[in-house]
Amino acid sequence: MDNQQLVVAVDGQAGAGKSSVSRRLAGELGVPFLNTGVFFRLAALIMARTGCTVDGLAVEFAAHEIGVDGDSGILDGVRVEEELRSLSVAGLLPKVAADPQLRAAILVLERRWVAAAGSAVVEGRDIGTVVLPDAWPKFYLVARDDVRVSRRPEEGRKLLARDRHDMEREAAPLQAAEDAIVIDTSDMGVREVVKRMLLVIEAPGRG
Ligand code: C5P
Repeated sequence: MDNQQLVVAVDGQAGAGKSSVSRRLAGELGVPFLNTGVFFRLAALIMARTGCTVDGLAVEFAAHEIGVDGDSGILDGVRVEEELRSLSVAGLLPKVAADPQLRAAILVLERRWVAAAGSAVVEGRDIGTVVLPDAWPKFYLVARDDVRVSRRPEEGRKLLARDRHDMEREAAPLQAAEDAIVIDTSDMGVREVVKRMLLVIEAPGRG
């Protein structure tokens, strides 16, 4: 790798392997990794803790100090991790992620994080389509339903409903960017997926 900035977008369904793959790819490239799902999980946690409605969530969210570190969130200076993966937080996510005002607030945080990092691997649902349309390369990970459910036994088949909400919502729905490279990870290990991504990134003729 030369020292040109590199911003890789990794979008796709829940359980398609985005986080594991993105973390490892970032490690191989020596750049930071941003899991944007943590912002949405922090918003859902704020909603659960304060009891605010979705209509009031963007304002409530803006009143907190929000940070993301790997798969952990930092809420008002306190690290939260397990709570972000709880079923009560997961249950609020479809409503939370469909709110355009909250998405606008999170978009600012995401872009600020990437601008400060310079190079990064950024994982989410709308990174290649909305948050960082100029990212290169863009990957879109998919996997068969049964495989995705088996990778998240604690959430089980509820994960499929969450995906459906992500794909069907009006605000920044989950979809592959036109220029995204689609990888089906059903029968691939993390190493293999990352290897394939590195081949794209390191191929001559780009930049
Ligand atoms: O990636 P993770 O499963 O932690 O994301 C949690 C939820 O946050 C997703 O189901 C989706 O509704 C929302 N999300 C989003 N846009 C992103 C990242 C996550 O809408 N860029």
